[in-house]
Amino acid sequence: MATGLFTFSSCYYDSKEYILGGISICDTTNTQFASVVNPIITQNCTACHGGSAPSAGISLEGYANVKNNYTAILNSINNGSMPKGSSKLDDCTILKIQTWVNRGAQNN
Ligand code: HEC
Repeated sequence: MATGLFTFSSCYYDSKEYILGGISICDTTNTQFASVVNPIITQNCTACHGGSAPSAGISLEGYANVKNNYTAILNSINNGSMPKGSSKLDDCTILKIQTWVNRGAQNN
């Protein structure tokens, strides 16, 4: 569908990321560690950054490791060097991690 055809009645309010007049809205209401941030890290990072010999010596398994490395995590996902070998994480996924950090990187 062409972007110009979107109207208010075609918004998808039931979706995490919905389209409003052609502009994608990122819902960062929920950015808890356990339900949002950790699953992103687990899906994209811990295959390499986990276990007994994590890549670059950086384990991203569990809250303490993610919290201690959040500056490096944000740098690497913003500049697209990580996840290595995959495409850059989408802006909304990055924004969720950034928002969790901005809210104090809590173990929530
Ligand atoms: C396929 C394996 C792989 C995946 C998946 C991966 N990494 Fe890496 N990561 C590496 C390797 C290997 C290095 C060492 C530097 C290099 O080779 O680029 C590294 C280095 C890093 C570093 C050190 C700084 C830097 O950029 O070199 C950080 C931080 C990092 N990764 C974060 C992440 C995050 C966050 C994710 C998930 C979004 C992720 N990595 C996914 C393999 C991986």
